[in-house]
Amino acid sequence: MSVREIVTVGHPVLRERAREVTPDELASPALQRLIDDMIDTMRAAGGAGLAANQIGETLRIAVVEVDRNPRYPYKPPVPLTVLVNPVVEPLDAETERINEGCLSVPDLRGEVERHVRVRVRRLDRDGAEHDEVRLGLTAGTFQHELDHLDGILFLDRVRDPSTFTTWGQFERHHLAAFAARAEALTARVGS
Ligand code: NI
Repeated sequence: MSVREIVTVGHPVLRERAREVTPDELASPALQRLIDDMIDTMRAAGGAGLAANQIGETLRIAVVEVDRNPRYPYKPPVPLTVLVNPVVEPLDAETERINEGCLSVPDLRGEVERHVRVRVRRLDRDGAEHDEVRLGLTAGTFQHELDHLDGILFLDRVRDPSTFTTWGQFERHHLAAFAARAEALTARVGS
């Protein structure tokens, strides 16, 4: 297990569509090691999720975990989830404006529209199938990771560029309002 380097915006690998993983590949020591590395890398960087392209591997694998993270006090906890060949589809048309950042886009945040109710179908690291509903901010996190696997960054989805902020300015000027909105969303739709 090791912490890998996270590539940043501008690296072409972030713009590639990652490819599906075969069952044999998933069972291989190399891919199991890659998944361990992704978990270590996400945790070391204090992120809520990480897609394989972000460490230079164009495979449809992502990891998500939200603990009581001081960086994201408004995010409901999500147990460690490994997504292999995931498919995410909206359950209805409702969206919400969510303030996002990305480990591959250092020190920048912006507001994007995300579906508030999604169905997530995925394999876990042992190849078992899961079919789940994810709601609210958690639904947004899963859509963000899926986007990575399709070569899309949250930057592409920011409709109003005046919402871009650094982390420092976000905390100073926008965190309180966003945290209130986020908590209202969680109370209304769940996570
Ligand atoms: Ni990201």
